[in-house]
Amino acid sequence: MRKKYIALLIGILQCLQIFCANREVLLLDKDWYFINKEVINGETEQSDYSAWQKVSVPHDWAIRGNFDMNLDKQYIQMSEDNDKEFKLRTGRTGALPMFGVGWYQKILPVSIEDNGKKIFIEFDGAMSLAKVYINGNFVGEWPYGYSSFSFDITKFIQFDRENLLAVRLENKPESSRWYAGAGIYRNVRLVKTNPVHIAHWGTYITTPLVYKNSAVVNIKTEINCSENLKNEVQLITEIHSKAGSIIGTVKSKLKPTEKLKFNQELKISKPNLWNIENPDLYKAVSKVYVKNQLVDTFITTFGCRSIRFDKDKGFFLNDKPLKIKGVCLHHDLGPLGAAVNKRATERQLLMMKEMGANAIRTSHNPPSPELLELCDSIGLMVQVEAFDEWRIGKNQNGYHNYFDQWAEMDLRNMLQRDRNHPSVIMWSLGNEIRDQRSLQGKETTHFLASICREEDPTRPVTAGFNRHNDAIKNGLTDEVDLIGLNYKTPEYKTLHTKYPNYIFYASETASTVSTRGEYKFPVKEVKGPWYNDYQLSSYDLEYAYWASTPDTEFEMQDDCEFISGEFVWTGFDYLGEPSPYNEGTPAKSSYFGIVDLAGLKKDRFYLYQSKWSDKPVLHLLPHWNWPDRIGQNVPVFCYTNYPKAELFVNRKSQGVKEKDKSTKYSRYRLMWNDVIYQPGEIKVIAYNENNKAVNEQKIKTAGEPHSVRLTADRDTIIADGKDLCFVTVEIMDKEGNLCSRADNFLFFDVKGVGKLKAVCNGNPIDQTSFSSNYMHVFNGKMVAVIESGNDNGEIKLKVSGGKLLSKELIIKTK
Ligand code: GAL
Repeated sequence: MRKKYIALLIGILQCLQIFCANREVLLLDKDWYFINKEVINGETEQSDYSAWQKVSVPHDWAIRGNFDMNLDKQYIQMSEDNDKEFKLRTGRTGALPMFGVGWYQKILPVSIEDNGKKIFIEFDGAMSLAKVYINGNFVGEWPYGYSSFSFDITKFIQFDRENLLAVRLENKPESSRWYAGAGIYRNVRLVKTNPVHIAHWGTYITTPLVYKNSAVVNIKTEINCSENLKNEVQLITEIHSKAGSIIGTVKSKLKPTEKLKFNQELKISKPNLWNIENPDLYKAVSKVYVKNQLVDTFITTFGCRSIRFDKDKGFFLNDKPLKIKGVCLHHDLGPLGAAVNKRATERQLLMMKEMGANAIRTSHNPPSPELLELCDSIGLMVQVEAFDEWRIGKNQNGYHNYFDQWAEMDLRNMLQRDRNHPSVIMWSLGNEIRDQRSLQGKETTHFLASICREEDPTRPVTAGFNRHNDAIKNGLTDEVDLIGLNYKTPEYKTLHTKYPNYIFYASETASTVSTRGEYKFPVKEVKGPWYNDYQLSSYDLEYAYWASTPDTEFEMQDDCEFISGEFVWTGFDYLGEPSPYNEGTPAKSSYFGIVDLAGLKKDRFYLYQSKWSDKPVLHLLPHWNWPDRIGQNVPVFCYTNYPKAELFVNRKSQGVKEKDKSTKYSRYRLMWNDVIYQPGEIKVIAYNENNKAVNEQKIKTAGEPHSVRLTADRDTIIADGKDLCFVTVEIMDKEGNLCSRADNFLFFDVKGVGKLKAVCNGNPIDQTSFSSNYMHVFNGKMVAVIESGNDNGEIKLKVSGGKLLSKELIIKTK
């Protein structure tokens, strides 16, 4: 009887389904079960979950673990680093436990009312080799951990019962050159639609004509229909301005077929163009009607802007020349690992913007959707990159094992997902792909570039070449629109003369290495530095031996109009790749960052800011605490965009320095190389062109560590269980000077409606777990990350350390 009733109900609902108003998108973030090991029958309901952990997603199973230098030791020969033999590489993937198998399970929020709907599961990314099951049945798989993918799971759902989603992931050793993260590290959604609905990534919006007074907007929309639909399908697309008013509407109808392809166009008058300063955005609201009933609504954000690259004049945004001042970013968020967090991503991007960067390269893989949404709204341009390996591998278990079967699908998914973002200005097929050296490389480039042009003919296709001569000889460079050069600074002019029709830009530059707050003597330019304490100097003169200093690149960027710009390696330190200390050392994170792993600015931040931004910059280095160097030389540098400045040591002038073009360093930095250290105070006074003093900065020798200073990036955060407060922790002397060499051991105690998410000091060789509640301060500073809970209220952070005066800080949540 009950069965009959359910069948009848299902029948009625099926008839009514066309009238259910809209799509439902449910974020599957809570109540997942997770286990970090292989489970036989892990796809089915378990009789005992006691060994499983309850987690929320995004989740990175490795980041809270302990560092172990024995993890993922790789015995390899890196041709990119000119290795002549196989070498033991350590810390290459961050020395964190990201390997092995992990299973996730979750009950899906589906009920009897959903019967008749189409049900999809969408993953923004799962690391890696994902296998997805519903109710024990295999649904599909996706090997590449950086790809977004979706499955139609309608036929697997039982509408009258609980439905179990299970995901198996596996990270193999030697599968990456950096910390990849582990687990369902990006968002997952369940999407319920009517049988007639806009397809997944089914809208594609371009602005073929953009003028000051008008713009033409083209909207292509793909609609999936149920097989037996007889009625016409109407699509109404409304364009909404940032303020929310409807500024244009276009209506079209098509006869039903299984896949409907609408092509609509409309004009916007006086468009607010998307640019770096005012990244104005529009929304296209797509409404689908069958028999005058609304059956689906979908919103796409887009922008009106034009892009153009010229072989002699570089890049143009909205017809205005703009040098690309970009940084390469890995996807990890330092001590938060790979697990996507919108606030942590925003913090990184805002810091890059503050520095004057206008572009990001998502090296070397598709980014999180959150990163692109943020770049759209902050005003940062993006190069979205697909791969680090094609057919010829760099890692034994790397992507080359999947390339032939999956590259096309991975690339199409990336393009279809990301092609509506105004921030995206180019597609990169790959970074330093070893296929540059193979004769088949051209064919592969052609194959991949054609996919890009088919999915999105509006953006240029590129790749980052390190073996540019091989790439040119083998014809790969003829298949892309823009030639990305990795570390070829001295050759720009020759290449432009030799190949006047190629459009060049610098896809990777600098690889300057430094540790925040460390200074080495004597101060000199060093290619391939090495110190026994595994640190590097912040005088910003040390670099990987294939690389250079920022100034070397600035000079060529300034002198070569034809170079569209640069992407510096890297904006932030990242987990893994601790060059040059990657052969049997305690180092687990990189030294390339302009900002350290904790998100604390290195001196180099101000060098870039003085070059890239319009804000007045006046930054002195080093710190002034050298009891071991009294009476000895301690050079003083000033990163500034004022034309000249005077340095005083204990009130005694060391002379005025003015920028000049005699060397690349004097062109971009002010340097007093002969200063003799005496404790006290250094002060710099900046002058304008008319020799008027316009700004000053001082650094004082600090006394003994006395107290802790806490500075929160925000006083109030959202009570959503995800928002973060980044608290900078500093050690101060009695007078309030920063103790820039302090390494005090601190304890963190968090009470109230939040928790301590991570601690990080930016020291590449510190092996204290990020999930610990204690850590040494590094060169006077560190960062504590506090996460909100779901309740409004207060979080109290207390930081104490031995005899130091402890400090408390209240963060509100609402
Ligand atoms: C490049 C490579 C990057 C990173 C960098 C370090 O050759 O593309 O991924 O390894 O070197 O300098």
